[in-house]
Amino acid sequence: MPGHFITFEGIEGVGKSTQLVQAAGHLRRRGLEVVMTREPGGTPLAETIRRLVLEPQQDTVDGVSELLLMFAARSLHLDNLIEPALARGAWVLCDRFTDATEAYQGAGRGIPLRHIRVLEEIAQRGRRPDLTLLLDAPVDLATARTAQRGEPSDRFESEQGEFFQRVRDGYLAILAREPERVVRIDATRTVEAVATDVADALDHFANDLARAHGPA
Ligand code: TMP
Repeated sequence: MPGHFITFEGIEGVGKSTQLVQAAGHLRRRGLEVVMTREPGGTPLAETIRRLVLEPQQDTVDGVSELLLMFAARSLHLDNLIEPALARGAWVLCDRFTDATEAYQGAGRGIPLRHIRVLEEIAQRGRRPDLTLLLDAPVDLATARTAQRGEPSDRFESEQGEFFQRVRDGYLAILAREPERVVRIDATRTVEAVATDVADALDHFANDLARAHGPA
C-alpha cells in the first residue's frame, strides 16, 4: 500500500521541527516506517539550493527568484526522496511544502497564486500532502521564540513583523479553503500539549484511513 505524505507548516518560532520529531516517534512506536525531511532541502542538491536561498546574498533576491528556487528544490526532493519513500509505503513527514510557498512567496511577497499553481503543476505532477498540520501562534509570540534561540537570522528571519503577519494570514486562508486537509494546532502552549494534539491529529487521520481501506 502506498505511504502517506504529511506536512508541517507555520511561521518561524511555532516549533514545527520539534513537533515533527515527536510525531515521528509517535508513528514509529506503532511500527510504521517514517521518513523525516524538510523543504527547501531533503536531498544533497536541494540542500545546496536551501543554503543559497536562505543565506544573506549581495544580489537582490526578489519573490520570483525565490519562487523558482523553491520549486527547483521541490522537484528534486520529490523525485529523489519523497516519491520513492511513498512508493515503498513509508509515512513521509515533511517540514514545510507548497503551502509555505503560498504563504511566503504568495501572501508574503505578493506573487500571484496562479503563478504558484502553474509551477505546482509542473514540479509536483499531482502530488499533494494527504494531511497538513498548521502550527499556529500570534506573530509576536513566535518571533520572540525565534529571537530566544540566539542564532544568526537567515534572509527570511530578518523580515519585519508585517511580513510574518501576511504569512500567517496566508496560512489561515489555506486552512479556511481546505479544512479537510489542513488541521490547525494551537502552538501557543507547551511542547507536550502541542505534541498531544499532533499525535491526536495523526491518530484521527490513521483511523479514517483504516475505516476507508483497512488498517495502515
Ligand atoms: P525553516 O526550515 O526554518 O522553516 O526555514 C525555511 C525558510 O524558507 C522559512 O523562512 C520559510 C522559507 N520558505 C519559503 O519562503 N517558501 C517555501 O516554499 C519554503 C518551503 C520555505
